[in-house]
Amino acid sequence: MTPLVVANWKMNPQSATEAQWLFSMVAKNTKAIHGADIVVCPPFVWLTTVREYLRKEKLRVSLGAQDMFWELDGAFTGEVSPSMIQELGCSYVIIGHSERRLHLHETNEMVRRKIQSALKAGLKPILCVGEQNREGTWTAFVAEQIKRALEGVSAKALARLTIAYEPVWAIGTGITDSPEDAMSSSIFIRKLVARRFGRKKADSIRILYGGSVNDENVGSFVSQEGIQGVLVGHASLDPQRFAKIAAIAASSFDSRR
Ligand code: PGA
Repeated sequence: MTPLVVANWKMNPQSATEAQWLFSMVAKNTKAIHGADIVVCPPFVWLTTVREYLRKEKLRVSLGAQDMFWELDGAFTGEVSPSMIQELGCSYVIIGHSERRLHLHETNEMVRRKIQSALKAGLKPILCVGEQNREGTWTAFVAEQIKRALEGVSAKALARLTIAYEPVWAIGTGITDSPEDAMSSSIFIRKLVARRFGRKKADSIRILYGGSVNDENVGSFVSQEGIQGVLVGHASLDPQRFAKIAAIAASSFDSRR
């Protein structure tokens, strides 16, 4: 399975000029990497800028949005629909990122609706799950996030889903999960998916690790059998480091073959 390396720029950078520069550098530095699918998720407002560049240069980097609304159109002030992000060239969309769950109070029910809507629109959602801390019943917490998000998802649509396991305490803190624990969590998540869809289907989806991934630690995550890529926040704003992360992911999968 080709690994997936996702850049989540979050609310950066602050101008279209910087966004174009950043994207052009990411594109240039990742041009020679063939063994990984690379997705860049800029803020909504820079998607047009980035897309124009992508078109002109005929690059193979895919675009993703950091969120979307579940309704298709109508009176929803400030929201962005699935077809709007598709119009701007997105094939992927991050859903249920912990920062949205925390700051915007996104619930499992909202995440479920967004997953449904994204799949219906033909998008490839990247569902983010992860526990706040390792105390008590964290596995039950993650299991509930997965169970709710997958409600109503068909076996056919599942093939377009990616799950990113991102322990909240590891996001933006510089403290990663241990590769072994990240692997156990990915196995746990895959078992939950298998319970609903069967082993074969569950084995066909990609499970990513996210949380303080950088060019120095990525190798220890992507060398784990159950992990097929990474979701990168902070380090994705440095085009050289991001390209190094993608290259390490690609070569680690090459050596697994
Ligand atoms: P980080 O963010 O790499 O800065 O920890 C990851 C994420 O939020 O997806």
